[in-house]
Amino acid sequence: MLNFELYNPTQLVFGKGQIEKLSVLAPYGAKILLAYGGGSIFKNGIYEQVKTALSGFEIVEFGGIEANPQFETLMKAVTLIREEKIDFILAVGGGSIIDGVKFMSAAVHFEGNPIDILLKRILFKDISKVVPFGTVLTLPATGSEMNSGSVVTIKTTQEKLDFGGSAMFPKFSICDPTVIVSLPKRQLQNGVVDAYIHVLEQYLTYPHEGYLQDRIAESILQTLIQVGPQVVENPSDYALASNFMWSCTMALNGLIQKGVPSDWATHMIGHELTALYGIDHARTLAIIGPNLYRIMFETKKGKLAQYGKRIFNLSGTEDEIAHEAIKKTVEFFHTMGMQTKLSECTKDYEKAANFIVNRFEKRGWKALGEKQNITLEKLKSIVEMSY
Ligand code: NZQ
Ligand code: ZN
Repeated sequence: MLNFELYNPTQLVFGKGQIEKLSVLAPYGAKILLAYGGGSIFKNGIYEQVKTALSGFEIVEFGGIEANPQFETLMKAVTLIREEKIDFILAVGGGSIIDGVKFMSAAVHFEGNPIDILLKRILFKDISKVVPFGTVLTLPATGSEMNSGSVVTIKTTQEKLDFGGSAMFPKFSICDPTVIVSLPKRQLQNGVVDAYIHVLEQYLTYPHEGYLQDRIAESILQTLIQVGPQVVENPSDYALASNFMWSCTMALNGLIQKGVPSDWATHMIGHELTALYGIDHARTLAIIGPNLYRIMFETKKGKLAQYGKRIFNLSGTEDEIAHEAIKKTVEFFHTMGMQTKLSECTKDYEKAANFIVNRFEKRGWKALGEKQNITLEKLKSIVEMSY
């Protein structure tokens, strides 16, 4: 097993009716910026619950943060935070709102041009230089409620870039599984698939000695396969909702990646497809992931075979099981309502491979993957195979 450090200071408050705990979780006497998205929180009663719990606090609101949050919008919030002398930010929403709040938190006291946070991928480690924040999660998917990463889009250049650091963990996150009842089916499907691929990015590498990490990763995959197809049909079932929400958090709160290699190339390519075509994050991953496993078959087949045996009970030679495991993965994505070809999502698909290769070349991203062997040539093949 590789050496590792585990640090996760986020206080996770999980379960029915927990939003009312905001009254004690929010720092006493703080002036709070309540950040939200396009308005779903007004329709499903979450806004009311938050406002009631925070009735003793001074609150300034900032709404309109888009899905795939934009730098340009977030900078308006940064100005507001400075003007209003906000002490604490509360994100009420899905990954986009939480990621947007992480950016605000980092940008307020940033010395320099805040766009550099994204362009230079600045690492934030000093909590005295960021604005503290908490979250009320409304969409299980990204794990952003318990991790220190954030992904922000620069609208003017159509770039989707990530940053983070140990100062970017939420102080607390409230995860009430009943909030998923109002989610559109499409978003529930997205959540299951995003979390599933988060696990695969940290699992489908090469055989290693992180036996426990593998078993934890496999248990998250098995739970998502068990509850995923049902929860999208019946989100008011608490057993399904709570297991779905907890699986999503566990998939990307840092635990399963400790001491093991990881890949993340599917995400890096997927982010470009969202930036280019506006395709939902999870849906880009369902398109790219299986083809990345096909092109990188020789590197990944040992782990693909383990995955095939343990998750899908497959038998045969290593190669047979590994190939069949990719097929089974695609079948699962189809069950979850995903399309797995780029041409099913956009007519303008043929520009994708050259565009992404050029971008990665300019950024110096010429060797991705757990073995740094996803070259620009392989990248091109992966994207073309995804058409
Ligand atoms: O904006 P509102 O009106 O709230 O509607 C949202 C939005 O339209 C809606 N929604 C959220 N909760 C709802 C609800 N509708 C009804 N009822 C509810 N309870 O759902 C839509 C999508 O929301 P969004 O926050 O964009 O979804 P998600 O949580 O999937 O986040 C996606 C973003 O997270 C990034 C992605 O790149 C993307 O920008 N990621 C962040 C990661 C991280 N920080 O660790 C890792 C991920 O891999 C991912 O890259
Ligand atoms: Zn993701």
